Amino acid sequence: MSASASMSRAAVHKLGILLSGRGSNFLAIARSIEIGSLHGLAEIAVVIANVEDAPGLAAARSLGLPTELLVSKGRRRVDHDADVAARLRHHGVDFVILAGYMRLLSPEFIAAFPNKILNIHPSLLPAFPGLDAQTQAFDYGCKVAGCTVHFVDEHLDHGVIILQRVIHVHETDDAHTLAERILIEEHQAYPEAILRVVSGKYGFAGRRYVLNPEA
Ligand code: GRF
Repeated sequence: MSASASMSRAAVHKLGILLSGRGSNFLAIARSIEIGSLHGLAEIAVVIANVEDAPGLAAARSLGLPTELLVSKGRRRVDHDADVAARLRHHGVDFVILAGYMRLLSPEFIAAFPNKILNIHPSLLPAFPGLDAQTQAFDYGCKVAGCTVHFVDEHLDHGVIILQRVIHVHETDDAHTLAERILIEEHQAYPEAILRVVSGKYGFAGRRYVLNPEA
């Protein structure tokens, strides 16, 4: 292998995707790797689902990606998370990407991947953490809504914000149409945030994510 080939290969960051459901954000990331801005910069090392019939798991299998099913139901959080961490390590994962992973992570898991776990949430955090964020925003009467990609810390939907995308709430919206339009933004936001993070050109100022071209 030539020096330049080995250098470009070393620059490909391995993503471990964790999901529980539909998997549309995972597919947006996979598409960005295939033909978009993440091409040549990232690869999906493994998709791990904690729910057997997650459509995202089936989609990953049909794309021929490495997949693992680690059912979490009925297991102690710390035990399940230890197994997930071990499989992520086995696949050499650099970044853990939560893509509709409907399970709180143990402090042990978060400590195992410091500032390497990303999540997407369908609200403009810190507004409306938790479930049904789009409905929460609609019912509250918000005039703008959106999504947030953030690093994961020990608190729910709380870690350092990498980026947000904003949309206007229309008079004609209901919670469903609002969620649909937020999802379109999510599919742009997540690959963009991953691109920023794998570039490594950032730092933290308190809990602010700041670009640092020299990093
Ligand atoms: C998305 O709305 C995401 O923001 C939230 O869970 C949902 C997952 O959707 N964390 P999908 O499985 O990626 O389609």
